[in-house]
Amino acid sequence: MDHLWMCLLILVAHTGSSKSQIALPTAHTVSPFEILPKIVGGYTVTIEQVPFQVSVRRRSIHERHYGMGHVCGGAVISQRVVCSAAHCYAINTTVPLVYRDPELYVVVAGSSAIDRTDRFTQEYLVQRIIGHKGYNGSTLENDIALLFLNGFIPWESHGVRAIPLATQAPEEGTTCLIHGWGKVTMKDKSAALQQAPVPILNRELCQVIYKLPASQMCAGFLQGGIDACQGDSGGPLICDGRLAGIISWGVGCADPGYPGVYTNVSHFLNWIRGANASLDYSEYRQMPLLNLANRRCRWRSVSLGFLVMGIGVLALIMSLLL
Ligand SMILES: *[C@@H]1O[C@H](CO)[C@@H](O)[C@H](O)[C@H]1NC(C)=O
Ligand SMILES: *[C@@H]1O[C@H](CO)[C@@H](O)[C@H](O)[C@H]1NC(C)=O
Ligand SMILES: *[C@@H]1O[C@H](CO)[C@@H](O)[C@H](O)[C@H]1NC(C)=O
Ligand SMILES: *[C@@H]1O[C@H](CO)[C@@H](O)[C@H](O)[C@H]1NC(C)=O
Repeated sequence: MDHLWMCLLILVAHTGSSKSQIALPTAHTVSPFEILPKIVGGYTVTIEQVPFQVSVRRRSIHERHYGMGHVCGGAVISQRVVCSAAHCYAINTTVPLVYRDPELYVVVAGSSAIDRTDRFTQEYLVQRIIGHKGYNGSTLENDIALLFLNGFIPWESHGVRAIPLATQAPEEGTTCLIHGWGKVTMKDKSAALQQAPVPILNRELCQVIYKLPASQMCAGFLQGGIDACQGDSGGPLICDGRLAGIISWGVGCADPGYPGVYTNVSHFLNWIRGANASLDYSEYRQMPLLNLANRRCRWRSVSLGFLVMGIGVLALIMSLLL
């Protein structure tokens, strides 16, 4: 009976693979800066329930349109460090691997909604990005990065709290939780934080579907319906109250036969601890505002425009009077 079920699943996986989409995991084909559908099949939670969850945003967009710059999710793991996915910050999939300038990002913590602040909201600039040097853009192996914040998160704040790291890999069948911000439809901007339960799947089964190494694991439902999606990347997979995975990739979202793939955090425990230990928690980098220059220029040209128009109108009145 079990064998039959297994065969059926393999069959499902293989029928799926004849679709044109299978060639590349969707994470490859989209720019991380697009707003994409997110947690599928979840329900709304508030940030007090998941105070470790953050939204990493493009500063240039964020400073102009609050809530528009969302790139990836992340999880607070120390007072100055957010754990996220490398593919959100890697420039390209070529050798040598280059990560984007940390100044391009802002971390928004303590917010339930993506498009407005609430009483717990805190914003931090990113002083440094430590992306895994072995991140592979085609297999998405080593899809892990740490963001070093330009300030200490005060621990007494209600909406922001660190999540402890899982020291052991979650066992097969453990129900874990994934989180992210989702647009309900293209028009609906409710953008409330979503949570969904996903079980850790059997390692061999994941290998059959995706050929995953031990540094990656898969979770979700083979019948589909509940899953993470591209915009959730970098966000946490929480098992037994600990950070056990990082949302990495999948084929489609919540499609039958294709569970989500997660970076196996317990596999990177030493990497995380080492990278964190290499950071100087007493160092603060001065980071200039990104959009200030643009704003000034625009304002100046507007006032110049009004001045010219004013002179024009004055000249017209004068000429009529004379
Ligand atoms: C990777 O991206 C960087 C920055 O955009 C660029 O300078 C570099 O040439 C790219 N590498 C390759 C091999 O295309
Ligand atoms: C990524 O992994 C593939 C498959 O193992 C390998 O062929 C390729 O060289 C790797 N790329 C990098 C940049 O390590
Ligand atoms: C995750 O990594 C740990 C440590 O390397 C390993 O023991 C475990 O089997 C991995 N889990 C999965 C699901 O591959
Ligand atoms: C990171 O480093 C800080 C400062 O040394 C330390 O307090 C914290 O426990 C470390 N966190 C992790 C997850 O290693």
